Amino acid sequence: MNLLNWPAKLVSEQSLHHYRHVPDPVDPTHRVTFASIDVESRRFVHATGGLLALLGIESYTPSDLPWACERKDLEPLFDAAEKLLSAESPMHCAEYTLYRNGMPFSARVLMDARCGSGVVGCVFEDITALNEEWATFERRLLQISHLTGPEFLWATVQLISESFNDSMAAFSVPTETPGRLRTLAAWHKRRPADAFEYDMAGTPCELVFGNKLQTFYHDVQQRFPDDQDLVDLDSESYMGLPLFDSYGVPLGLLYVTSELPITDDRLLRRVLFTAGGRAGMEFIHARSEAQLVDAYRDTVTAFSATVEKRDPYTGGHQSRTADIAARIATALRWPAERIDGLRMGALVHDIGKMSIPAEILVKPGALTDAEKALVQTHPTVGYDILKDIKFPWPVAEMVLQHHERMDGSGYPNGLAGDEIIPEARVLAIADVVESMSSHRPYRASLGLSSARKEIRRGLGTAYDREIGETYLGL
Ligand SMILES: [Fe+2]
Ligand SMILES: [Fe+2]
Repeated sequence: MNLLNWPAKLVSEQSLHHYRHVPDPVDPTHRVTFASIDVESRRFVHATGGLLALLGIESYTPSDLPWACERKDLEPLFDAAEKLLSAESPMHCAEYTLYRNGMPFSARVLMDARCGSGVVGCVFEDITALNEEWATFERRLLQISHLTGPEFLWATVQLISESFNDSMAAFSVPTETPGRLRTLAAWHKRRPADAFEYDMAGTPCELVFGNKLQTFYHDVQQRFPDDQDLVDLDSESYMGLPLFDSYGVPLGLLYVTSELPITDDRLLRRVLFTAGGRAGMEFIHARSEAQLVDAYRDTVTAFSATVEKRDPYTGGHQSRTADIAARIATALRWPAERIDGLRMGALVHDIGKMSIPAEILVKPGALTDAEKALVQTHPTVGYDILKDIKFPWPVAEMVLQHHERMDGSGYPNGLAGDEIIPEARVLAIADVVESMSSHRPYRASLGLSSARKEIRRGLGTAYDREIGETYLGL
């Protein structure tokens, strides 16, 4: 009789009851097998054919139960079962080295003392292949572990996709609209997938999020017939892992959907947990950075409003200058974080005018030399106000240098060329353009065309040539 054909018959009612959470309790591949140990007699009182196959025992019939096993490698199991009966916790899980036809292999054994008096139920799992696959994956994960932020997310989805049938692997985050997610990084069939947004309703992602549990479906299309994305991707298997911060706030979701069935989900489960844990930290980091930028922006906006209140004629000058500067920097393809910093500098670039009497600021007509000299202190005063605030950008320097000119003709320090930071060079142009194209107490707007003429006139002398040309090209 071939024992391998009747694995289910010997699984006790009790074992089934207790191990219901184990996927596929009757596993035709014998990946997961069962047995019960009677601790006092040190005998197996139930065993599946799978266990016998696992241990390489073939000459055996069901009537042999209960069965005392004389093998040395099983002694630690009986010892552990005995200890478990007197332990406080009824469950115990450990890895053991067992032997099959003289060859060692790794098995994870879950023991449960709640299977009846003196009996310990065991679930055996051969994890040799899993360990090997895991080691391969872990090596590749180590190779990308030095990456941070979006680079780590992209490398991770690529690694997961390529390790599991070139499936779709994606990190998604909630959008402003409740119930919608958008991908941050996604990889499918050996290439990055375009970012996309989707409604969670009726998708497996909704259940993963709602239940806050890692979830696996081997027949995902049948379960979610209304999910068009699954149809488009021709998905067979799906696994999703929700990512939360330490307050239980949902940060995002890591999921994999594969055209080919994923029969052994253990590796994928482990992979998602490991990669998802690290990604969660990256998410938290990105979020706190964003919150910090928001806090800076709020502070700077309050500063900006303070100075503009005293000088209603130029109200809005700083924020319009910030918009122009950001447009130039975007055209220069500066990274978003650098543009954030440039905006901050622009929003407060005239903060030093707080120290100048309001009568001078709003004075119609020309200023005397003394008044002009006073007005020209505003970059230095602004620098002194801001220099001790630890911004992640050179905000105080931007403010100090926004009236410097490339040929050294500016103030307060007559800096020239590379001595002026690029942010201040952009700011100089945006400031001139904004001032000339809006009304001043002592004159009407000179118009945008004369502002553009002024920038063209000063290209390479007063103003940075590349930045000036970029502005003129907008
Ligand atoms: Fe200024
Ligand atoms: Fe200004």
